[in-house]
Amino acid sequence: MKFAARISRVQPSPTLAITAKAKAMKADGIDVVSFGAGEPDFNTPAQICEAAKAAIDAGHTRYTPAVGIPQLRKAIAEDYKRRGRDVAANQVIVGVGGKHALYNATQVLFDEGDKVIIPAPYWVSYPAQVLLADAEPVLPFAGPESDFRLTPDQLRAELQADANIRGLILCSPSNPTGSVYSLEELQALGAVLTDYPDVVVFFDAMYDRLCYDEEIAADFVQANPELADRTVTFNGFSKTYAMTGWRLGYAIGPVEIIKAMSKLQSQSTSNPTSFAQYGAVNALSLPDSEIDAMKAVFKRRRDLIVDRLNAIEGVHCATPGGAFYVFPDLTSFVGEGKRFATDLELADFLLEKALVAVVPGSAFGAPGHVRLSYATSDELIEEGIRRIAEALS
Ligand SMILES: Cc1ncc(COP(=O)(O)O)c(C=O)c1O
Repeated sequence: MKFAARISRVQPSPTLAITAKAKAMKADGIDVVSFGAGEPDFNTPAQICEAAKAAIDAGHTRYTPAVGIPQLRKAIAEDYKRRGRDVAANQVIVGVGGKHALYNATQVLFDEGDKVIIPAPYWVSYPAQVLLADAEPVLPFAGPESDFRLTPDQLRAELQADANIRGLILCSPSNPTGSVYSLEELQALGAVLTDYPDVVVFFDAMYDRLCYDEEIAADFVQANPELADRTVTFNGFSKTYAMTGWRLGYAIGPVEIIKAMSKLQSQSTSNPTSFAQYGAVNALSLPDSEIDAMKAVFKRRRDLIVDRLNAIEGVHCATPGGAFYVFPDLTSFVGEGKRFATDLELADFLLEKALVAVVPGSAFGAPGHVRLSYATSDELIEEGIRRIAEALS
């Protein structure tokens, strides 16, 4: 079979692959502790489920506008207004998950010959989506020295080095590192971009409510209102509301970009699932206390996992400000002449010998690290890290 060139440019998502392998081992009766999950272990709050069920009963089971029902676009705009950012409903497009919104945006904005800056460590789908748009990812390494955040100097250097840069993708709080950009840091990056009017910014705020030092993580457009006409913000329901399976996310941006995305969506998926959208309208009215309760649990687990990891000799783990991932440095075990040649070998060893699933850092452009999700119980965190410590000792 001859396949199109674009599909051979990308690999299946390694995070989904490792969780699938861990799940298969569990199904075979093997007692695996998985730190691979990219999703909350909570159930979707009951009131959201009830709203979706009521929508089915009320007959909301047909096609909706491709961009989403007006009530949901309005509720999303109002949610942003509550945070202090002025957003109109026609600046919002609802897609089949944040991943879908990001995919559509890369498809409508990038072309062959374009380059897009994606600071590493990055979420695995950004480079893949850029490649699927026939463009080229540029991957500067934002390492532990800057707490995994791109510095204005790095950004300027990349922009000066290549006139074909058309985009920058930022994620805060970050998957995989949990690192969070402050408002001032976003302003400093924005100041560099003012000299490059052709560069579009993608700001992925999927985990913004899971920010442990602030109520909500800083927003790029609030930090840089003058860049609103070339910034697309991505957010969704998966992480904040424990709704990963509902497949609902959205993009907020200039109307002309939203219209182009809407054209693509209308010719590909059409609308996201009708009754799921009614659940999402309800999610936006969930009392803050419910989100805060989930956040408090994540924060306690973060502190636990960071503490236990740092107690292992040779492991260094920073305390991330958001999301539900830690990204420890295991370079004392990984590299030429060390116990494991690569982090892939290390992750394989941990899965086979310690029965613990972690995602190798190379998948995120950061060899020598691994990502652990702490969206799992305190008991499993204790047991999993105990196994890692034992296996590495
Ligand atoms: C950084 C980041 N962006 C976007 C997504 C997409 O989430 P969804 O498609 O479930 O809305 C994820 C999910 O893992 C993520 O971690």
